[in-house]
Amino acid sequence: VPRANRIQVAILGAQGRLGSLITQEIESYPTVWGDPFLVTRSTPQTEAVFSALLECDLIIDASLPSVATGWISKLQKHAKKKKVQLPSLLVGSTGWTPAQLKVLKSCSHNSLVLKSDNFSIGIGLLKAAILSVAAQLAELGFESTLIETHHRGKKDSPSGTARMLCEAAKPKMRGNPPNTISIRSGTVVGRHIWNAEGNGESLIFSHEAHDRRVFACGAAQVGQWLLKQRKQPASFKKWRGKILSMDAVFNSTKTS
Ligand SMILES: NC(=O)c1ccc[n+]([C@@H]2O[C@H](COP(=O)([O-])OP(=O)(O)OC[C@H]3O[C@@H](n4cnc5c(N)ncnc54)[C@H](OP(=O)(O)O)[C@@H]3O)[C@@H](O)[C@H]2O)c1
Repeated sequence: VPRANRIQVAILGAQGRLGSLITQEIESYPTVWGDPFLVTRSTPQTEAVFSALLECDLIIDASLPSVATGWISKLQKHAKKKKVQLPSLLVGSTGWTPAQLKVLKSCSHNSLVLKSDNFSIGIGLLKAAILSVAAQLAELGFESTLIETHHRGKKDSPSGTARMLCEAAKPKMRGNPPNTISIRSGTVVGRHIWNAEGNGESLIFSHEAHDRRVFACGAAQVGQWLLKQRKQPASFKKWRGKILSMDAVFNSTKTS
């Protein structure tokens, strides 16, 4: 397959737990993806590196918000100087501050940007299940608690996924999202339990990722979806200026 027909991708944080799995996933489909450009802690921020990044179709961030904003804001300056558009951005790192999100938002005018704290398909379905009953749970007096457990190396707390689930449910729960309990222990890849206690009965929704490869596989699928949107002028226009979430992907697969 000629280079021009394969997706050129760069991975920020390519040697990390998530980044190395995304790299493996991409390298296992060489007819779809070109050789990924791997950005690690030792990659120098030179003119040549920024030029190579600007030639990519997609940048996947699997590093940290501070690392990603450092790269992205400098890349924006190079893109402006060269009068070219930014590659599409797929952001997987978690724990972004409002100031860091501003940097991402500014890219969305010159690119397509999708940010997800959890690339697994099952979490999207967990969210849909919770949202379908959140209003009734609040109305009927169930007390909800979100318990999330992750390996001891996870840096942010509560997890981005827990925040996302609470934020989504908040408007349906009269503005009172559940309390969150975070556990950092062992090697747990990611477990989210929504526990609703009623009078003499409990309702429990849970999701557990058993293998980090679900995130890598999801990232590759969502990356391809993003590039498809970018190629269609109507979709590009519709999504420009926004930081997309997995909702955009789920909603488009529901209607297609
Ligand atoms: N969206 C999802 O589905 C999903 C799933 C899992 C995790 N995550 C999130 O993804 C992020 C990464 O998680 P992880 O478990 O892979 O963490 P990790 O293993 O610590 O990976 C982060 C990587 O970024 C690298 N890095 C640090 N400074 C850098 C720099 N200046 N330039 C380039 N790379 C740099 C680190 O290098 P060193 O090792 O040299 O420090 C490390 O390899 C976290 O925010 C996590 O919460 C998201």
